[in-house]
Amino acid sequence: MEHERSNFFLNLKEYIWQFWWYFRQWWRREPHLIVGSLGTVYLHRWWLIPRNPIFNAYAHLFISPDEDRALHDHSWVSLSIVLRGSYMELTETTKQHVMQRRAFGPGSIIFRWPTCAHRIDLYPEEASGKFKPVWTLFLTGPKWREWGFLCPQGWVHWRKFMRQDGCGS
Ligand SMILES: [Fe+2]
Repeated sequence: MEHERSNFFLNLKEYIWQFWWYFRQWWRREPHLIVGSLGTVYLHRWWLIPRNPIFNAYAHLFISPDEDRALHDHSWVSLSIVLRGSYMELTETTKQHVMQRRAFGPGSIIFRWPTCAHRIDLYPEEASGKFKPVWTLFLTGPKWREWGFLCPQGWVHWRKFMRQDGCGS
């Protein structure tokens, strides 16, 4: 009984902390997650609802293009809605290694099956040479599979891709 009570308070403390943290990050305009490594940060992510295994909603701020060494896929069915700015999405056509480049602007809705390999590319700003930032709303369903990269030799799990620092030979 005593043990259950202490667990309850521990969980409650954790929930309160998470709740406070969600709002604190919004208040400070700091993302909940920064994707990429030092010097190559490309995405800021904010959670719009508490993370859960069924359905998630994120605000994404792209500041640089996606990893450019290979197309990637996702673990879930996903929907992107471009809110501000424009980007290009590269996908492979039915012909292997032949890329298709499509532009999306504010209001564009992009649905992807988990196996849909793609890469986001941003437009450069003429004066500064930096990339024009893009805001999207990103919705995901339940986890369906592991995600990875589409390499010349075939699909590579993201962990292996990171470990070998790319597609490998
Ligand atoms: Fe993606």
